Amino acid sequence: MAYKIAIIVGSLRKDSLNRRVARSICGLRGDNLECSMVEIGDLPLYNQDFDALPQQPEAYVRFRDQVRSADGILFVSPEYNRGMPGVLKNAIDVGSRPYGKSAWSGKPGAVVSASPGAIGGFGVNHHLRQSLVFLDVPAMPQPEAYIGGADKLFDAGGKLANEGTRKFLQGFMQAFESWINANIKS
Ligand code: FNR
Repeated sequence: MAYKIAIIVGSLRKDSLNRRVARSICGLRGDNLECSMVEIGDLPLYNQDFDALPQQPEAYVRFRDQVRSADGILFVSPEYNRGMPGVLKNAIDVGSRPYGKSAWSGKPGAVVSASPGAIGGFGVNHHLRQSLVFLDVPAMPQPEAYIGGADKLFDAGGKLANEGTRKFLQGFMQAFESWINANIKS
């Protein structure tokens, strides 16, 4: 049976390069991976008082269920000021609570960062890994994916037009499939 991959993009921008990377990855997936995007733009800003509410915000319930039903989580994110965008940190916090009911626990993860800059979002990639350690998300160590010069990789229609990147992402997803296989909790 195919592994279900939830892809979380750390940018809300309509023409997001990271969303293009995420879409390309979905198109390259192997037969044993089934990708779906999990949206985070509608999640209200996390407030710990919500944990005590008899009914959680609807978007929280939807998001936590989507994370829980995935076999693996792929984060594809831009770097904002050398760290992760607030919208992504908010999603991570929402998924982690109420206390003791984290949706993330034990889900194998992988991180891709993309930027027009040369460093390819190295800062966000590792900032994100810091939270994943705490959340008990085993994050694939290799290959690392820092996609620099991301504004030059796509054609006018938003399709990935760089063969080297295509091959790299294909290998990345094959490695992720093996990582899930080795780390999935039954
Ligand atoms: C940026 N950008 C950026 N780029 C980078 O490589 N390192 C950084 O620290 C930052 N910081 C940063 C802060 C803020 C608030 C913005 C809006 C942007 C530039 C960023 O990489 C660029 O806008 C990307 O195109 C954003 O990713 P998406 O939205 O295209 O996926």
